[in-house]
Amino acid sequence: MDPFLAEWLNILVRWSHVLAGISWIGTSFYFVALDLSLRKASGMPEGVSGEAWEVHGGGFYHVRKYLSAPAELPPHLIWFKWEAYLTWITGFLLLIIQYYIAADVYLIDPSVMALTSWQAIGISVASLFAGWIIYDTLCRSPIGKNTSWLALCVYLLILAAAYFYSHIFSGRGAFIHVGAFVGTMMAANVFAVIIPNQGKITATLLKGEKPDPIYGIIGKQRSTHNTYLTLPVIFMMTSNHYAIITGHPQAWAIVGIIVLLGGVARYFLLRHEVGDEMSEIAWTIPVIALCLVGVVMLTQPQTVTYAGPKVSDEEAFKIVQNRCSSCHAANPTDDKIKAAPKGIMFSSIDDMKKYTKQIETQAVRNNAMPMGNKTHMLPEERAKLGAWIAAQ
Ligand code: HEC
Repeated sequence: MDPFLAEWLNILVRWSHVLAGISWIGTSFYFVALDLSLRKASGMPEGVSGEAWEVHGGGFYHVRKYLSAPAELPPHLIWFKWEAYLTWITGFLLLIIQYYIAADVYLIDPSVMALTSWQAIGISVASLFAGWIIYDTLCRSPIGKNTSWLALCVYLLILAAAYFYSHIFSGRGAFIHVGAFVGTMMAANVFAVIIPNQGKITATLLKGEKPDPIYGIIGKQRSTHNTYLTLPVIFMMTSNHYAIITGHPQAWAIVGIIVLLGGVARYFLLRHEVGDEMSEIAWTIPVIALCLVGVVMLTQPQTVTYAGPKVSDEEAFKIVQNRCSSCHAANPTDDKIKAAPKGIMFSSIDDMKKYTKQIETQAVRNNAMPMGNKTHMLPEERAKLGAWIAAQ
């Protein structure tokens, strides 16, 4: 495809994905907050378990939650499902555009595993499905009846996925896949459990019968999981822009801390939102702080030592020309990259001097560049570039 059109396709799909994601997260957080803020009041109609008064955008809203059949089910019941479906569909499209089409650049790092593009794509698709099947089986098994055990098992499953992906794919590929793995579980929860169960409840209510409460309980369990997983997933998706995260060799440890941090932060945010006493939720603050300090310490960049003779401008430039200019040039020679990524070009020593900080972050202190180490940069070359940058 023409590189110009490909860029536009990428922007539009990414834009849609972010929009769908915001809508999905917005509604799902809203409903958890709503559920937590429901109060009993006198004079509530038959079947109402609680109500809330809310103020927003210049008006007052009076919301009631019916656990059993309302006397009459209104004809225009509003369902919240397309936010989730569209987030997954646009996300998968973006995975194709960004990671499958240029798998050798974004997804594969031969120093991790020398896969062909088709092998990498096959592993990617199969693992996303497998993740959902394992998670769903766990939830339906006896473990699923015990919230703490289930939480621990799902946590370990995500850690295992992070370990697996980081031993198969490039750093970026691994992190985006942890995000996609969990995101797929979340979207499938909506598609295969929450909405069908809601459909069964609605159909029974319409027949004037009492629905089995189990459908509601299961749906609630899955949608609660979704809200706990949201913050970590967003971290995984944005991590791709930060070499200190994606370039880290222990991806599973970062993921482990972030899932914990995100889950506890979600607990704090929603309980705070609905007016819980600070004394009840204060325990979350040291946990969040500890996780943050832990993850920052863990991602301390590698220190590079170089004991050789002074590296000249020409020598540094030669390394960059050999290892970076196939992509970062006015006319890249790379088979996939057809325009200088992010407009960064290293055409002269002056260009390099302009980007010393970025080069240091991406290629000296982390191995994020060259992308997928496609140009086989050697550790000594990273050390030499580091020494040259230090002398600037
Ligand atoms: C195979 C192609 C390829 C090679 C070789 C390559 N890069 Fe990149 N580089 C990319 C792509 C693609 C991006 C854009 C990444 C993104 O979209 O976040 C990029 C982005 C960057 C950025 C911007 C990062 C940011 O997020 O701000 C820097 C700096 C960079 N590369 C430096 C280098 C250096 C230094 C080398 C050589 C040691 C190098 N690159 C080699 C493909 C390449």
